[in-house]
This record gives sequence, structure tokens and C-alpha cells, in this order.
Amino acid sequence: MTGRLYGDLAGWWPAISPPSEYAEEAALYVETIRSAATAPVHRVLKLGSGGGNNASHMKHAFAMTLVEPADGMRELSRALNPECEHLPGDMRTVRLGRLFDAVFVHDAVMYMTAEEDLRAALATVAAHLAPGGVALVAPDATTETFSETTEHGGGEDANGRRARYLEWRLPPEPGETSFETHYALLLREPDGTVRSAHDVHREGLFGRETWLGLFREVGIAARSSRPGPSRAASTTPLSRPASPRRPVSATRLDEKAFRI
Ligand SMILES: C[S@@+](CC[C@H](N)C(=O)[O-])C[C@H]1O[C@@H](n2cnc3c(N)ncnc32)[C@H](O)[C@@H]1O
Repeated sequence: MTGRLYGDLAGWWPAISPPSEYAEEAALYVETIRSAATAPVHRVLKLGSGGGNNASHMKHAFAMTLVEPADGMRELSRALNPECEHLPGDMRTVRLGRLFDAVFVHDAVMYMTAEEDLRAALATVAAHLAPGGVALVAPDATTETFSETTEHGGGEDANGRRARYLEWRLPPEPGETSFETHYALLLREPDGTVRSAHDVHREGLFGRETWLGLFREVGIAARSSRPGPSRAASTTPLSRPASPRRPVSATRLDEKAFRI
């Protein structure tokens, strides 16, 4: 369940979560991908690319293909990032029939609420990764890092619409692999009219061993790394196993990609 935020409220996304706020973490992701790679990275696939906020920074480093199922979010991203390729698709099932130097999945992976969904999403990553390519998957939390939190934020878009939100992440029920995040939104039109909205999202939560086991199952050698410095709560940079055509040095990956 991804709620109204990416549906009837999608037009408010740039006011709720302005692209400028993503510069620091996008730079971290560029550096992580580059330092894990054994060859220059040109083509990058992002699954669940949303409004294209990360891409608006990462596109200066890579040629990006952006896959996003929600029409409203994809159109926002297309307007923000006209130089990127945009395609519809669900990260569990999409098959583009081509390979990329790197595949990146950011917070959208949190919408994988069952293990079979997460396995399917990681199989999609593997299916699009060139031999020796780099996969970077950055969930907001794993079971080990999750805590009940509230956050607030918001901004203003180019049309003068302003938004403020409160995000309340509730703990999962015992034995569950998912939890609820509630959003309280205040949306202010340029004429001063303010309305409120309450949106509830169901997100997935898996332990580090489950993550690493699923990566192994789909044929990707993985390590977990420390949380990033800003919005990202945890990152998991990964690499496809070495192939005879373009080998990857495990030692190099340990030293440079995975800052454990
Ligand atoms: C928080 S937004 C992503 C924002 C993005 N990180 C950015 O830089 O703008 C989460 C996105 O995940 C997408 N999403 C949800 N379920 C998905 C799925 N099964 N496959 C791909 N994307 C999905 C939603 O449509 C939404 O646009």
C-alpha cells in the first residue's frame, strides 16, 4: 500500500519533499557506486524513482533510466529530469531486456512488505545488472536499525504551493515483516487556502541476514554498510559476483565499497 502521496496528492510532492534536500545523499550514492565499481559507470537504472529527486542530482554523474509505477510521480520526474529515460514498471516484475553498469533502489524498496516481494525486487536488480556491475539498495531501515520515530518537514514548490508534514513510523506487530507509517499533511495553496490530509503507508522490515540471504539467492554478493549521513537510514551497497568478462575484486569491494 503506497497511499495517496503518490496518487491524488502526487502534485504536492515537490512541496512536501523538495529536490534540493537530496543533494547530500545523492552525492553519497554516486560516490558509493563509483567506489564499488571496477570499470567506469555510465548507465544506471533506478527502480522506484518517484519524483526523481535523487536523479536530479545523480544525472550529472550518470545516464539514468528511471522506472516508476505511479503516473503522477513519473510525470513530475519527467518534468524535472527531461534528459533521463522514464519508464513505467513495478520493481518486482519489470524486465527491460537490457543491462546496466549499476542498479540503484532507494527508499521505494520499503514498499516490499513480504519476503517474496523483496526477493522479486532483488531478482529484478540482478536481471538488469551487467557482469561486474554494482547494485546499491538503500532501505530506510532494517529490523536492526528500526525505531519508532517521528519526523517533520516540507517546503515550497515553483508554483508557490507550500506543504508541511509530520511522519510517524509505528513499530511492527510481533512476528510481522511490515509496519505502518502515518503522514499528517498540511497543504497550502498560493491563495492561502490550507487543507489537511492523512495518509497511511505499509512498509516492509527485514533483518540483515534475510537481506543478505535473498541477495545470495538472486546471485548477488552483498555486504551491508553503515547508515548514510543524511536522509538515508541505512545503505546496502552490493556487487554482482565476478564474471570472466569483467571481474570484480572482492578485496577491493571490502575496502572501498563497504564501510562496515
Ligand atoms: C518516496 S518515493 C521515491 C522518491 C525517490 N527516492 C526520489 O528520489 O524522488 C517512493 C516511490 O516508490 C514507488 N513504489 C511503490 N511501490 C513500488 C513498486 N512495487 N515498484 C516500484 N516503485 C514503487 C512509489 O510509487 C513512489 O513513487
